This record gives sequence, C-alpha cells and structure tokens, in this order.
Amino acid sequence: MKQSRISGMRKIGLVILLLSPVALGCSRAEQPGFRLNEVEIAARELGPKQQQVIADVLYALFGTPDKPFVMKETGLNVDKVQLASGAVWSDAGGRQRGLYRQHCGHCHGTTGDGMGPTAAILNPYPRDYRRGLFKFKSTERAAEPTDLDLERIIRQGAAGTAMPSFDLLAGDEVAALVEYVKYLSMRGQTEVELINRISDLGEDEQLALDYDNIVGEVLVNRVVKKWQAAGENVIQPPERSEQSAEELETSIAAGRELFYGAKANCVKCHGPSELGDGQTSDFDDWTKPLVDLAKQVNDARKSIPADPDLSSADRAKQLASVNAKAAALAHDSLPPREIIPRNLRLGIYRGGRRPLDLYRRLYSGINGAPMPGVGPASKGAVGPITPEEIWNLVDYVRSLPYESISKPQKQQKFTGREQL
Ligand code: HEC
Ligand code: HEC
Repeated sequence: MKQSRISGMRKIGLVILLLSPVALGCSRAEQPGFRLNEVEIAARELGPKQQQVIADVLYALFGTPDKPFVMKETGLNVDKVQLASGAVWSDAGGRQRGLYRQHCGHCHGTTGDGMGPTAAILNPYPRDYRRGLFKFKSTERAAEPTDLDLERIIRQGAAGTAMPSFDLLAGDEVAALVEYVKYLSMRGQTEVELINRISDLGEDEQLALDYDNIVGEVLVNRVVKKWQAAGENVIQPPERSEQSAEELETSIAAGRELFYGAKANCVKCHGPSELGDGQTSDFDDWTKPLVDLAKQVNDARKSIPADPDLSSADRAKQLASVNAKAAALAHDSLPPREIIPRNLRLGIYRGGRRPLDLYRRLYSGINGAPMPGVGPASKGAVGPITPEEIWNLVDYVRSLPYESISKPQKQQKFTGREQL
C-alpha cells in the first residue's frame, strides 16, 4: 500500500519538482505567463506559501501559455491545444500558430480571465472562461457547453457585442480554438477548486499533493467530468409541425399572455414595453462576487478602526488583509457593471436567432445571468411551462421587432401653422 502511494505521489510530485524552477524562475518575467486568480485568493485570504502551492500544481497540470502541458486525463487533444497556444508564427508548412494570441488574447486575456488589454472599453466585457460558465449554449443551464456550442459562438460571434465572427478561419483552426478555450476553462476551474480546498484546510493540514487527490479528485472528478457530460445535457425540443398564418397568430397571442402573466413573468425584467428596462440593477455571476468583496472591504475599513475589542496587533493584521483584498480588486478586476435585460424590440440575439436557439435560451435561461429558465428541469423554474408554451414565447419574442412601435417613427412635419 505504501508502495502505491509513493508511486502515485511520484507521478505528480516529480512533475512539480522538476518543472517548478522553470515556472518560477526568470522565464516567467520574459514570457507571457498565466496570472493567478488574485481576487479569489485575496477573498479566501491565502498567504504566499499557499499561493505557491497553487501556482506549482497548476504549472504541473497545465504548463505555460508558450509550453502548454495537456494531461491525457483531461481528454483534450494536445495537437489542437498546441496549434492555438503560444506566440504567433507560421511554421515551415505555412501553418499559422499561436491562434489564440492572434485572434482572442487581446480581449479574453492570456489566462482567459476576460481581461485582455482591449477588455476595459467593451460592454459587455469579454468572457472570463475561468469559472467554466458559458451563456449561449445548447445544454441545460448548469452544464458545460458542447464543442459544437463553442464552435458556433466562435464562427458566428455574439451579435450586438464585441465578440466577432471567425467564420473565415479554417475548420481545424476553429477546432483548435475550441480546444484551447476548454483548456483555459479547465485550468481556471481547477485553480478555483484548489483555492477553495486549501482555504478549507485546518491550520496544521496540508493539501495532499498526490496523484489521486490532485488529478483524480480535483481535476477529473470536479472539472473534466463536467465537460465530458456536456453532450448528455443537450436540450432537445419536440419537433413542431409547419404552422399556418393563423396558427402563428394564435401562438403569438398565447406567448404574449405568458410574457405578461405570473407563470413566465418575463415582463418583470424585460419591462412592459420589452425594451429591457424592467430590472436593471442586478449583476451577473462574474460580477456579484466582486461587488460583494468591494462591499466587505468598505464595511471592514469602517468597522475595524472603531472596534474597541481589537488589540492593535489584531487591528493591523485585519487591516492588512482588507488592504490585500482592495489591492487584488484594483489589480485583477474590471469595474462592475449592471447586467441589463435585452431590448427585445431590436431582434438581436447573442446566442443565435434560430427558433431552436431561442427555445433553448428560454428553456434553460442564461447561465451566469439573472435570466431564469422556464423549462421543467431548470433550476429556478417559475412554473410548469410546457414545451408548446415555450414555443409560444419564442413566437412572441420573434414577433416583437416587427410590431409597428418597434420601427422608427416617421418624423412629424411641423411648420408652426398647425397650431394656429
Ligand atoms: C474584440 C473582443 C473579442 C475578441 C477578439 C474575441 N472575443 Fe470572445 N467574447 C467577447 C465578448 C465581449 C464576449 C461576451 C459576450 C456576452 O457576454 O454577451 C465574448 C464571449 C466569448 C465566449 C463565450 C460565449 C458564451 O456562451 O458564453 C467564447 C467561448 C469566446 N468569446 C471565444 C472567443 C475566441 C475563441 C476568440 C478568438 C478566436 C474570441 N472569443 C475573440 C469579445 C471578444
Ligand atoms: C430576472 C430577470 C429576467 C427574467 C424574468 C427574464 N429575463 Fe430574459 N434576459 C434577462 C437578462 C439580464 C438578459 C441578458 C443576459 C445577457 O446578456 O447575458 C436576458 C436576455 C434575454 C433574451 C436574449 C437572448 C439572446 O440570445 O440574446 C431573450 C430572448 C429573453 N431574455 C427573453 C425572455 C423571456 C421570453 C422571458 C420570460 C420567459 C425572460 N426573458 C425572462 C433577464 C430576464
């Protein structure tokens, strides 16, 4: 038994020991490296030693942007990841390399944290892949996207946002980018899992750095399995037969009723005129923790100096931790923005405009955003809405841009005489 533990430990331990001097030495300053999730680390109050463990484990499991390491347990395709990773260059066969840095990094960031140099001026901000949360996909709300979903968003972009269409890239290039988004996502999810586990440890406990714990439990059980289950979670609406014009009218009317009624209650957020002006003060799941942490910092800065029960040493310690949180927020996040429900009169759908796309959007809601799903299996379902009723809502939503009040009004000619 001892033997098997040692061999397990050796697998991961050796990788860490052999590789970490490179990761932490001079090369990191020269090459673009992955950034640690500073906000999560500060929120969980992890010290430098614990951060080092996280950096080492991530390095052992995933390598660096220039030399990615792909464990076979991730199920990721090494060749695809390598085609997308690293610096931009063409190989001897004229094959373009470094696709992610060339096409995506300036928005989504080298680490996939959604904080590339261009990000701050965009609204919405580019996706932070590190939570494994994706919005526009064919799967149940909490499930990961399928490869096809990622391919779709890369090929088509997200209409009405800065996310461009990359439909002109070759098929194998898009496939490489899909794989790289998954690689960055898995890396970010593993990081958060490590941060949580380390912060849950007692004072004398240490994270077990053996193969079974790090690869088997953290990487495979907590992260990879979710990705591998994506295909089983695709939402398949029942087929609809061809609609006559009258049937469509009836369906739209039923959809309108649902939209304003208590069962679907779309009006609560999208507003009585469907302009998206119902509920405009909420945040998405990427932003909520930032807003909460900022509030915690502000409250603590007021309460700590005034707390008579604190010794001066404890006060200094607590203030230092609060300052670390404030510094992480300033350095590692973009200013929070409210999430605004969509203006449904424009007919611009980020997740695709086919009826099937809209059906899935309504069924599962928008993962990571306040928009709830109305499908029966969805968490936060507001009522037993049937597939037929979801189609009614789809028809109603699709009819909105064509209502006369959605169109620009003719300018009134005013000569002044009409008043006389
Ligand atoms: C000009 C900035 C920009 C570039 C370049 C860009 N993106 Fe995006 N991307 C965005 C924005 C903004 C969003 C968020 C859209 C939203 O939340 O509605 C996004 C969202 C995404 C999503 C998330 C979709 C979902 O379902 O949640 C993926 C995946 C993605 N981009 C992949 C890529 C890839 C791969 C590339 C490079 C081939 C790329 N992006 C290039 C701005 C960009
Ligand atoms: C709790 C608030 C809330 C409720 C209730 C709600 N939505 Fe939304 N909805 C949103 C938000 C916020 C967005 C934008 C999310 C984003 O861009 O990430 C959105 C986006 C959408 C979109 C755009 C999808 C796309 O691909 O761009 C549609 C269509 C939509 N909602 C329809 C509906 C319908 C129909 C209902 C009722 C069944 C509904 N919503 C209920 C908040 C809500």
